[in-house]
Amino acid sequence: MEAIQARHNLADMTYINPLPVRIWHWVNALGFVLLVLTGAQIRYTDIFGVLTFESAVKLHNWVGFAVIANYFVWLGYYIFSDRITNYHPVLDARKFATNFFQQAQYYSYGIFKGEHSPHQVQPYDKFNPMQRLAYQLIMLTAAPINFVTGLMMWDTQRFANWIAAVGGIRVVDTIHVAIFILFVFFIFVHAYMGALGRTPITHYREMFTGYEEH
Ligand code: HEM
Repeated sequence: MEAIQARHNLADMTYINPLPVRIWHWVNALGFVLLVLTGAQIRYTDIFGVLTFESAVKLHNWVGFAVIANYFVWLGYYIFSDRITNYHPVLDARKFATNFFQQAQYYSYGIFKGEHSPHQVQPYDKFNPMQRLAYQLIMLTAAPINFVTGLMMWDTQRFANWIAAVGGIRVVDTIHVAIFILFVFFIFVHAYMGALGRTPITHYREMFTGYEEH
């Protein structure tokens, strides 16, 4: 009886996070946390004394390359699959603005009154407009800029021309650190928002199992 019930429940669930997205996501999350920690160690050597400067740089570089390679799992998956509609369900600016405003109202007010989110999660339209915008800014702007600035600082000789074009190594470093601060902020807000499901671990579980829990 329990087995039948379990099978029925599975059939009732919506598959929203395919395997490549789940693998990419958790490798990425671990990678980013390590990059933030080793980055803080490199930048503030006198405050943190966990690793030597050299070990922190070495680890930061290795994890950086792993995160860059992993990024292409996410990008490749969405470019070559029909689930790209999750990021662009309808290209309608007016509708996007209206839904964005409704979602902001929900997060700032409705949620505290126990209302339901105005966005209905579907396999090909799983993000609300605020998620869609935030994820695209992070994944298509902030992350690639930090990959490139990181590469430039990894080998200043090889990328000397690029560094000069941007305005020098101090400019490259400032951009890299500014985006690092943005990522720290993003990770906290993102992890908190991820806990706003039916229970605090519902969305986390969905990112492991792939299935949305109604
Ligand atoms: C400790 C770190 C993290 C936790 C606990 C976490 C948690 C979650 C959860 C629960 C979801 C599913 C809910 C949703 O779709 O909004 C999710 C999705 C997502 N997260 Fe994270 N995350 C973490 C780190 C990151 C980082 C560092 C990034 C990017 C730099 C990131 C980018 C994303 C993206 C883009 C999605 C949507 C996945 C898709 O494209 O289908 N996450 N995260």
